[in-house]
Amino acid sequence: MNLLFENELCVVTGAANGIGKAIAQRFLEEGADLIIADYDDKTASEAFAGNPHVLDIIKADATMIEDLEKIAESVKKTGRFVKAVVPTVGNGPQNPIPNITPEEFHKVMDLNVFSSFFTVQKLLPYMTEGSAIVLISSIAGFQGGENALVYNAAKAAIRSMARSFAGELAKRGIRANAISPGPTDTKGFSDFVHDDPGIRNGILSMIPIGHIGQPCEIAAVAAFLASDQSTYVTGAEVITDGGFTNR
Ligand SMILES: NC(=O)c1ccc[n+]([C@@H]2O[C@H](COP(=O)([O-])OP(=O)(O)OC[C@H]3O[C@@H](n4cnc5c(N)ncnc54)[C@H](O)[C@@H]3O)[C@@H](O)[C@H]2O)c1
Repeated sequence: MNLLFENELCVVTGAANGIGKAIAQRFLEEGADLIIADYDDKTASEAFAGNPHVLDIIKADATMIEDLEKIAESVKKTGRFVKAVVPTVGNGPQNPIPNITPEEFHKVMDLNVFSSFFTVQKLLPYMTEGSAIVLISSIAGFQGGENALVYNAAKAAIRSMARSFAGELAKRGIRANAISPGPTDTKGFSDFVHDDPGIRNGILSMIPIGHIGQPCEIAAVAAFLASDQSTYVTGAEVITDGGFTNR
């Protein structure tokens, strides 16, 4: 069986939990060597330390430029090119419009937009013909759900960024795409539904495919977009939501 990333170096941030962790696990199953980063390096280490294909586990706050430079330094030390960069860090508090403060606005934009952009920018010197960028947007990026204005706008910016990376980097042979997950069973999602089975089941009832997404289902799409299985796909967004958006 051919593995998608045999002897390829990939970078995944937010890899300690949830979607980022599932992507890191799937890439390892596909033969990748990985550099992973998360500000919760303890949990990341519990999941990945000791795996000879995990070359580095970096404690990095993806909103801090000097921490993103640490990831680039780690890549530089390997002397290798990066096949795929997958910055997954993102989230946002629930808050009605009148209560959103300038501090919260900046924080949510930093956590989602700044972190995605500068993770990629810092790693671009180590990307080459055939490399791929996979950004994590959300169905929130094209919905107007209440109490999430800044998160919704941030995820829309990430969709846009995937298209701009694609347009500007095509001449270097680098592809860029976004995944827009719908509800996906992670700690982030549990926090969002306040661990309330009623809210969770209410969301479940709106997913035509009949289950809440599993992180591995997002990881499968990331593996496709990051690999040479998708050499003609760039500037695209893959809605991965069990039909939630188009119900
Ligand atoms: N779970 C969903 O339903 C869902 C739906 C759509 C989009 N998304 C997006 O998918 C991505 C992952 O979400 P998740 O649900 O897996 O989240 P999660 O909260 O389960 O995991 C997030 C990971 O990111 C790390 N992290 C958080 N802030 C960080 C920072 N500043 N620097 C470095 N690491 C940091 C955490 O330690 C954790 O390991 C996010 O961008 C989220 O917006 C999630």
